[in-house]
Amino acid sequence: MTTLGHEAEEDRFSFTPFTRHPFFTQVNRWIIDKVICPGRQVIVDLGCGPGAVTQLILERVRTQQPPPRVIGVDPSSSAIAKARTAISSKLAEFVQGSAEWLSKLVSSADAVVFLNAIHLVPNKAQVLGEIRRVLHPGGGLAFNSTFFNGAYVEGTSGFWRRWIVRSVQALKEKGIEVKHNGKTTAMEWLTPEQYGALCQAAGLKPTTIELLRVDMTRQALIDIGHFSLFIEGALPGVPLEEGARALEVGLERTMEELKVESVPRNWMEVVAEAV
Ligand SMILES: C[S@@+](CC[C@H](N)C(=O)[O-])C[C@H]1O[C@@H](n2cnc3c(N)ncnc32)[C@H](O)[C@@H]1O
Repeated sequence: MTTLGHEAEEDRFSFTPFTRHPFFTQVNRWIIDKVICPGRQVIVDLGCGPGAVTQLILERVRTQQPPPRVIGVDPSSSAIAKARTAISSKLAEFVQGSAEWLSKLVSSADAVVFLNAIHLVPNKAQVLGEIRRVLHPGGGLAFNSTFFNGAYVEGTSGFWRRWIVRSVQALKEKGIEVKHNGKTTAMEWLTPEQYGALCQAAGLKPTTIELLRVDMTRQALIDIGHFSLFIEGALPGVPLEEGARALEVGLERTMEELKVESVPRNWMEVVAEAV
């Protein structure tokens, strides 16, 4: 049996393949367009990962004069390294660190973009407080997620449940047990209303809370099933290699049984203004 090195393993279970699906660009560009505008000179891409959103921000500010600073922040050193390699723009800089101590990493900002990551944060009130601390009054926050209470389009919750059940079965067939410790705090799913209330409490007035519906294709589901943080959330305690394989087998069986080729899902999009 061969064991992948740490770096090869991170490549293998990276978020990047999922970011290449057109709907992913759509849900991110939609919200970036609402929060990035001329005059916003310091833009933080919080939880930037390997840089897919940073690229979209840079595209958006391409002709902005004077050019803004775009600061990508992420706790993962490997994601930061990938972003630095992928992005050569002079406007972009990358800092390793967590949202929980954002104000120690960035002194002030006109806009904070926190895409596809807020669901991973255990203490959302604290993080929103940190974001408020770095924003000037009138500054903008944008965040989105598809891991929230309301993500499942009516009539599809059976699909998502079955995917996990079939994946757990595939693991059992290989003698691997899944720890049933329920959702971790970090993966607690809030409703859009709860997110809105947390923003208000932190001094961030929500101006937009919308759901965008996307169609997740078979390949998009395979790709998210190969992402380390998704595997860890869906199949707690299972080694990544076995988890990714089981999710693929589980998906195949689910799609075959339900005779579907894709499944709709909601993205929650929130824009708020610092008061
Ligand atoms: C699913 S990726 C999203 C990457 C990028 N924002 C995008 O949408 O393409 C989630 C990212 O959130 C980062 N993350 C997790 N916890 C975080 C925290 N407490 N503060 C900031 N980023 C965090 C992870 O390291 C990961 O890179």
